[in-house]
Amino acid sequence: MAVERTLSIIKPDATARNLTGKINTRFEEAGLRLVAQRRLKLTREQAEAFYAVHAERPFYNDLCTYMTSGPIVVQVLEGENAIARNREVMGNTNPANAAEGTIRKDFGQNIEANSVHGSDAPETAAVEIAFFFSTCDIVG
Ligand code: CMP
Repeated sequence: MAVERTLSIIKPDATARNLTGKINTRFEEAGLRLVAQRRLKLTREQAEAFYAVHAERPFYNDLCTYMTSGPIVVQVLEGENAIARNREVMGNTNPANAAEGTIRKDFGQNIEANSVHGSDAPETAAVEIAFFFSTCDIVG
């Protein structure tokens, strides 16, 4: 299995409830290493650009409003099969459908305020990591 990197975001609903440490523990316990991390507040422009792939979806406007509503933590997770592993740890996009023990089941509030984002494929991981981090920010 290859060592991969994936982009993770701890969303405003989770930072508001002081859950950053608890969520990071889930990642570390799953064998994912936090090799870069920064807390920031997205501008509208940044949110629209980051989620541009969803621009035609009915939830895009609300999603961008939500993602700019408070601080987020952007991070790079590294490990064996990191993209799929992170998606397992996060659980289904909709917390109502997420498996027991996943981050979204335990912390997510609804399909929008679902606590975390994770890249869905190697190509999107590369683009999403480069959106927030330069190579020298990532220390493996
Ligand atoms: P995320 O992994 O950040 O990618 C896009 C986000 O859009 C998704 O998580 C959800 O939080 C949000 N979203 C809001 N409504 C929907 C929906 N109906 N279907 C999928 N994603 C949605």
